[in-house]
Amino acid sequence: MAKVTSLRCVLCGRLFEPGEVEYTCTSCGMDGTLDILYDYQRAKKELTRDGLARNANFSMWRYSPLMPVTVDSRARHLRCGWSPLYRLPELASELGVRALFIKDDGRNPTGSMKDRASAVAVDRALGLGKRIVACSSTGNAASSLSGFAAVGGLQTYIFVPHTAPEAKVTQLLIYGSYVLLVRGDYAEAFDLSTRAIERHGWYNRNCAINPYLLEGKKTVAMEIAEQLQWNVPDYVFISVGDGCCVSSLYKGFSDLVEVGLIERIPRLVGVQAEGCQPIHRAIQERADRVTFGPAETLADSIDVGAPRNWAKALRAIRRSGGTTVAVTDEEILNAMRLLARKSGVFGEPAGVTGFAGLVKMATQGGGLSSSDRVAVVVTGNGLKDIVSARKAVGRPLVVEPNIESLAGKLPVY
Ligand SMILES: Cc1ncc(COP(=O)(O)O)c(C=O)c1O
Ligand SMILES: [Zn+2]
Repeated sequence: MAKVTSLRCVLCGRLFEPGEVEYTCTSCGMDGTLDILYDYQRAKKELTRDGLARNANFSMWRYSPLMPVTVDSRARHLRCGWSPLYRLPELASELGVRALFIKDDGRNPTGSMKDRASAVAVDRALGLGKRIVACSSTGNAASSLSGFAAVGGLQTYIFVPHTAPEAKVTQLLIYGSYVLLVRGDYAEAFDLSTRAIERHGWYNRNCAINPYLLEGKKTVAMEIAEQLQWNVPDYVFISVGDGCCVSSLYKGFSDLVEVGLIERIPRLVGVQAEGCQPIHRAIQERADRVTFGPAETLADSIDVGAPRNWAKALRAIRRSGGTTVAVTDEEILNAMRLLARKSGVFGEPAGVTGFAGLVKMATQGGGLSSSDRVAVVVTGNGLKDIVSARKAVGRPLVVEPNIESLAGKLPVY
C-alpha cells in the first residue's frame, strides 16, 4: 500500500504533512502547486522489475505502490491505463530518428489521458467521504471525471466553455453530470468553478491545482518505461495546455529513478499551438514565470491562455533537458492525417499536437539526431472532435447506387 510522506511546494519548497493541505501551498497561493512524495525505500521493495513482470493487472493500478491510494473504489472497474505503445519503424526513418513509439492514450475508457487523473480523483474523493466533485475543463478532464464519478457513485458539477466540442459535452450529459456551459473562455470557466467549489465545499478535480491527480497521469510515463523494458527513450513529446500532462511525465520518470527502476529521465518536449503558447514563450525567453496571453487555436483542449500548472511545467521541461515547440493549426491538422495514415491512431487536434511538434522539429532541425529513440503521447481520441478532423480531409464522393456511376470516378492506385 502506498505511503505518502509529505507534500512539497514547487515554488518555495515548504513541506506539508499528508492531510494538512489538499490543494496548493498556503504560503504561495494558487501558483504554489505541490509534489506528492512517498516513502521511496518502501516503494523500492514493493515495485520491482520482477514483480511487475509477474503482475497480471494490466491497468494503471499496477503502479499503486507509488500512487496515493486511499480506497479500493468501485471506479476502478473502468479499466484505465496500459494503453498500447506502437513502434513505427518506417515513420521513424522518414523523420530521421532511430526509433519512434506512439503511446495511444486516446484508448482510455472515456477517450483521453485525463482518465488516469480522474480515476485517482474519484478514489480520493471517496476516501475523503466527499459526495460531490467539480471541475472546470476544456472538455476531456470533465468527460473523464463524469465517467469515473458515475461508476463511483459521486455527483458532479462541470464547468466548460460554451465552445467545447459537442462530443465532449454529450459525454458529460450521458454520464449524468450537471453541466454548466460558461459564456466565456477556459480561464473564466476555471475562475468560476474555483469560486463555486470554495463556496460549496465540493471536491476539486482541477488538475492544475490538485496535486494528487498528477499521480494518476504519471503512470503514462511508467508504462512507456516498462513497455520499453526499462530502456527509456531519449525524447518524449506531448502537447501542453495547463501543463499537467508534461509535468506528470516528469513525475512518473523521476519516481522511477527514485526507486531505481530506470536511470535517467528522457528529455521532455512540450508542444503548444502558435495561437496559444505561454509556456513555449517562457521557455524560449528563459523566464522565471509565465505571462498569461491570448488563446486561439482549433485544438480546443490546449486553448489555454492562462496555464495554471506553469511552475511544474517549466520545471519538468527544464530539469529533463527538454524544450518546447509551437505549431500552427495547419501543422496540427497535417499531423492528424499523417499519424492516422501511418499508424492507424486517430487523435483529436490536441491529441496529435505532440506529434506535430516532432514532425516540425525533425523537418526543420533543432536537436534531434539519427541515433535518438523518440516517444510521442497521443493524449485524446479523434472522435472527440470530428468538426476539426473534417477540416483535415476532403469530402467523400456521392454516387448513385449502380456500377456505372463509378465510371471515371475512382482514383487509380
Ligand atoms: C487531449 C488533450 N491533450 C492535451 C491536453 C493538455 O494537457 P494539460 O492541460 O495538462 O497541459 C489536454 C487537456 O485538456 C487534452 O485534453
Ligand atoms: Zn510555497
